[in-house]
Amino acid sequence: MQSINIGILTLSDRASAGIYEDKATCEVKNVLQAYIKNELIFHCELIPDEYEKIIEKLVFLSDEKKCDLIITTGGTGPALRDVTPEATQAVCDKMLPGFGELMRMQSLKYVPTAILSRQSAGIRNKSLIINLPGNPKAIKECLEPIFPAVPYCIDLIEGAYIEAREENISIFRPKKK
Ligand code: MTE
Repeated sequence: MQSINIGILTLSDRASAGIYEDKATCEVKNVLQAYIKNELIFHCELIPDEYEKIIEKLVFLSDEKKCDLIITTGGTGPALRDVTPEATQAVCDKMLPGFGELMRMQSLKYVPTAILSRQSAGIRNKSLIINLPGNPKAIKECLEPIFPAVPYCIDLIEGAYIEAREENISIFRPKKK
C-alpha cells in the first residue's frame, strides 16, 4: 500500500504566538488516521493569518513535499485577518466549489454560524487543498461529509491511491467505463 503525504497548515495568529494551544492540527491527524488505511506522512505547519506566508506554505507543501492532500484549518471567516480562501485560490489551478458548499450545508446542523465560513477547496498540480474552519470541533463536522469524494478526486489528479477504513467511513469511486 502506498504511503500518503499529507500537509496540515494551521492558520491562527493566537495559536502561532503561543497565546493558546493548537488543538486543530492534532484533530486533523486523528480524523484522517481514522479514515485512511495507508501509512500517513504528515507535514505540519502553524503560522499566523498572513496572506503571503500562507501562499508560501501551500506552495512548499504542494511543490516540495508533494502532498497528495493539504488540509488548512482556520482563517476562513469574515474577520479582517481571515485570508485563507483567498490564498488558496491564488495557488490553485482550479477550484472545487462543491466541497465548501457541502461543508457549509452539513455544518448548519451544528451551528447557525456555519454560513460565515468561506471555506473552499482546489487543485494545485497533484495536490488537493481543502480549507476547514479553525474550531477543532469543526474538523470532523466538515471532513465527515466530504471525505467520501476525496480518494476519487486524488485518483483523478494522479495522486496516491487512498484506501479507506470502511468501518469508519464509506468512500465512493465510480465504476470504470
Ligand atoms: N463549521 C462547523 N462545522 N462547525 C463550527 O463550529 N464555526 C463557524 C464556521 N463554520 C463552525 C463552522 C464559525 S463561528 C465561523 S466564524 C467560521 O466557520 C469561520 O471560522 P474560521 O475563521 O476559524 O475558519
